[in-house]
Amino acid sequence: MSDGPLERVHILLGVCGGIAAYKAAELVRRLRDAGAEVRVVMTENATRFVGATTFQALSGNPVRTSLWDESAEAAMGHIELARWADQVLIAPASADFIARLVHGRADDLLSTLVLATSAPVSVAPAMNQQMWSNAATQANVSLLRNRGVRVIPPASGSQACGEVGEGRMPEPEVLVDELAASRVPPVLAGLRVLVSAGPTFEDIDPVRFIGNRSSGRMGFAVAAAAQQAGARVTLVSGPVNLPTPAGVGRVDVRSAREMRDAVVKACADSDIFISAAAVGDYRVQSTSPTKLKKTGKPMVVELVQNPDILAEVAGLKNRPFLVGFAAETNDVERYARDKLERKKLDMIAANQVGTGLGFEGSENALLLIWKDGSEDLGRADKKALARTLVERIASRYRVTIETVVPA
Ligand code: PMT
Repeated sequence: MSDGPLERVHILLGVCGGIAAYKAAELVRRLRDAGAEVRVVMTENATRFVGATTFQALSGNPVRTSLWDESAEAAMGHIELARWADQVLIAPASADFIARLVHGRADDLLSTLVLATSAPVSVAPAMNQQMWSNAATQANVSLLRNRGVRVIPPASGSQACGEVGEGRMPEPEVLVDELAASRVPPVLAGLRVLVSAGPTFEDIDPVRFIGNRSSGRMGFAVAAAAQQAGARVTLVSGPVNLPTPAGVGRVDVRSAREMRDAVVKACADSDIFISAAAVGDYRVQSTSPTKLKKTGKPMVVELVQNPDILAEVAGLKNRPFLVGFAAETNDVERYARDKLERKKLDMIAANQVGTGLGFEGSENALLLIWKDGSEDLGRADKKALARTLVERIASRYRVTIETVVPA
């Protein structure tokens, strides 16, 4: 299984003066959790908001604040530090620092490092909403973008100054995901990927329904990983409480039949379909238009079978490459292989459910199976599993395409 998304990546984190500097402390922790080695450089103004000791303790490395610190320069000179970095992230990036980057200034340690490094540079601007929308800031930001700097747009919301608008530094988790995304090899570039996720709900009456425990987390992680790997992604989602991954097109549905219609429509434009949704196998024969009342007697609700979406897609003339999931409580491999063959899939990701894994949580364990092979991806965070799954799908997809003899 893969390690953290930023395993062994050297990240030089530049912290500028702004109230969001306090969030950078949590960011260091998150970057290290993702496997990165972090060295922090603070501008002089940043030290007015958070002490260097905080960053030193969290990063496990000395913090640099000045070009003129002789002992620090003797240990690792600033050019050496610029070469050490695999990635520079400036978070928060103040309006002033952005303007200084635009002019190529080198009058403090951080600006000098940005000029001296050949590593990719990302900036996460954070400032008052008026300062952010100011034409000068916007022009500076587009200049940086044109020069290849990755600008991670600020979030919207209430600000420390009491105003509401765009200008908040994105949450540390979002920044880690952005960096991880920028380092993913584009193994699905140019491909169109359809992902289904979440549960389906089958209404009994206007207030009750039959559903299942799928939270959508696995499918949403797969959609995000496919998008990060360069695919154009459509996500058909049952009712879940999750934000849409950046850059992904989303279609919301409720019932299995609605999911079937959305999937079949989108399949016409898809190279790969990954079916992570927990589709209800049965629906209520006839949904009551009014709330059912207690009768004092046992109630019988008649169920009829739902369409099997994957099996239907497998029968389409120009079917996409098909990846199913199998949720099993026992005999996982045997049942999953049976589904792979019966539903005519190219690949299946089997997970044991009912053990605390699979549904709802942030972790899962997957066993990947295809016609003549299998790979145990082990237990990991769903986002990490999704990245590995996407890599494996990309290689199997290529093998399949290459072995199809043109007519
Ligand atoms: O959403 P989470 O909380 O993160 O949980 C993730 C998960 C456990 C839901 C996910 O990892 C998973 O296993 N999804 C598939 C669940 C499922 O319905 O498995 P199944 O073995 O019943 O179905 C096999 C395959 O057929 C699945 O790809 C399913 O999407 C598809 N199917 C099933 C029934 C149906 N009527 N139509 C289908 O297309």
